[in-house]
Amino acid sequence: MKNMFRDQQLQEEFEKNGYVIVPLLTAQEIQQMKDAYFGLEDIKGGLRKEYDVTFDTEHEITYDFTFTDANVNYKKAVFEKITEVFMPIADKYLNNYKPIIANFINKNPHKGEVPLHQNWAFVDEHKYTSVSIWCPLVDSSIENGTLQVVPGSHKRFAPVRGPLVPWELEGMKQTIINEYLVPMNVKAGQAVILDDSLIHYSALNNTEGLRLAIQLILIPGITHSIHYHMDSTGDKPIVRVYKADKDFYMEFHPWMKPKGVEELRTFEYKPFTIDPPQFDRMLHGRAIDQPKSILENIKSIFS
Ligand SMILES: [Fe+2]
Repeated sequence: MKNMFRDQQLQEEFEKNGYVIVPLLTAQEIQQMKDAYFGLEDIKGGLRKEYDVTFDTEHEITYDFTFTDANVNYKKAVFEKITEVFMPIADKYLNNYKPIIANFINKNPHKGEVPLHQNWAFVDEHKYTSVSIWCPLVDSSIENGTLQVVPGSHKRFAPVRGPLVPWELEGMKQTIINEYLVPMNVKAGQAVILDDSLIHYSALNNTEGLRLAIQLILIPGITHSIHYHMDSTGDKPIVRVYKADKDFYMEFHPWMKPKGVEELRTFEYKPFTIDPPQFDRMLHGRAIDQPKSILENIKSIFS
């Protein structure tokens, strides 16, 4: 049993489902966060150009998302405002976690579908677990595009994830949306703390109301963050693993090879796709950070 959470019951629930739901913000803190969002509007830089030109219409970003903002000072101010309120509370739940990315996510009416995905890998997931704290500042529902997750899908799929790394579940997206999602429907100020490897999705805001939420990404205090960059410029595609910290993500350019950061290692990229029967088997199979069973060990000797 790991000790990510201070509370043993939360730890067990998190290990089983890949997420837990906890109370996080008071009514006053919710208001404080809304004020922070609207108070910083003037220094927003707009969507970074690279996101504009690279996303095709299917993946066009139709929600306001701090991470993709062009003004680094805006991103820094958001990080300060969110961590100031969130960290004292997060520390009560989590054992020695540090924040690396803080986002406001605002979905305008009838916009803002976030495609099915796993968050990028922010740590070596065979050894560590990064989490996102997702906290809506309004009551969330199916109608306004609440967070939906595939329970138990954490640490089962695609441990190497980055902006340019093809997703092994790309061909499974519609099946998963149709058959596996569970809506969180949490109230304003409640939070979902999820493993970043958990498969999740959120639909359009199909209401006229405000649909504003916060995402704070944290990694264990004992390690650094990593970033997987797919490099297809050589004969064979390779994945470069960079050492990252919160400043790396502030300045982040999504599609360029990172400069001035330490490269930890590289490995060959091997394409991998998953079909529906395999998906179901893996979903109910062993997590990548769990030891192999005796049977699996014997099988691997003979395979
Ligand atoms: Fe996400």
